[in-house]
Amino acid sequence: MALREIRKLGDEILRKKSRKVEKIDEKIKTLLDDMVETMHHEKGVGLAAPQVGVLKRVVVVNSGDKGILKLVNPEIINEEGSQEDEEGCLSIPNVRGVVERPLKVTIKALNENGEEIIVTGEELIATAFCHEIDHLDGILFIDKMEKEVE
Ligand code: CO
Repeated sequence: MALREIRKLGDEILRKKSRKVEKIDEKIKTLLDDMVETMHHEKGVGLAAPQVGVLKRVVVVNSGDKGILKLVNPEIINEEGSQEDEEGCLSIPNVRGVVERPLKVTIKALNENGEEIIVTGEELIATAFCHEIDHLDGILFIDKMEKEVE
């Protein structure tokens, strides 16, 4: 495993749309492992592949009680309620802001073995799912931020 460099705001790759993963090969598994290591090292809650310079639909989320989720081709299949909370992003250091997100989010994805998984997250985890999946479409939390928190 290896740490990967985090791309920062201003890097065009953060604004591009990521491609679907067709086959979960060793390269994707290594990417997932490296992303988990990088997320821990940077003390993040989640990380999306474009943040390490790879335009593939791959994210990792530290979901607390459900452990580390390695998600390939994640899609939101249900949303409920709404919440407003502070967010930050490893690609946008020193900015935190309030973003409205669903309170409860269910996603469908493939795990690292190519098996379909369905996971529901609430509060912080729901926010992480939305934030990371937005990255795959070139969307950053500052695009949706209602106000910046000093
Ligand atoms: Co982010």
